[in-house]
Amino acid sequence: MLLYTLLIASYLLGSIPAAIIIGKIFFGIDIRKHGSLNPGATNSIRVLGKKAGLAVLIFDIGKGSLAAALPLLLHQDIDPIYTGLAAVIGHCFPIFAGFRGGKAIATTAGMLIVANPIMFLIVYLTFIAVIWITKYVFFGSISVGVTILLYAFFDASVEHELIFIIYLLLLIYLHRSNIINFINQQEPKINDKTIKKD
Ligand code: G3P
Repeated sequence: MLLYTLLIASYLLGSIPAAIIIGKIFFGIDIRKHGSLNPGATNSIRVLGKKAGLAVLIFDIGKGSLAAALPLLLHQDIDPIYTGLAAVIGHCFPIFAGFRGGKAIATTAGMLIVANPIMFLIVYLTFIAVIWITKYVFFGSISVGVTILLYAFFDASVEHELIFIIYLLLLIYLHRSNIINFINQQEPKINDKTIKKD
């Protein structure tokens, strides 16, 4: 029962749409109608600027960290990956924003910082390296799913391996517009200010 309560609480926490809130309050715009249309940190940096984007990034990371920390804070023997991923699902399919949310990467980082800091370092150093090499954020984002899965195969339970296979498929689904844009040579590189369509 407590597990389900924590999962629901984590989902609701993850559902708080920082990019939409900050866009509306401080800029009077709906981020879902600008740039890549994605209410996440990358599009916030692109559309709202570095400071607002950083605020979104910190908030979205914080949601994942807090959700993953809930079992620990409540002295419960519950896997932080479960509550962390519930927040990730909330971030991607937020009940407070018509189930149209971000693409998981910042909230996943927050989850891993608490649940498995070594995994976080490996996964997100790879993320940065892939972006640095390719200049495309979405390649780095998909590498997050691949690296998590590889790490899980070497170091985690079968349960985690299955969860992260689904997680990788989810990431690919969430980045489908980026993949299509890339194929059509319309995906902006990291330093490209061009507005693309979803
Ligand atoms: O993590 C999100 C990133 O991979 C893509 O964001 O706004 O370019 O669709 P965006």
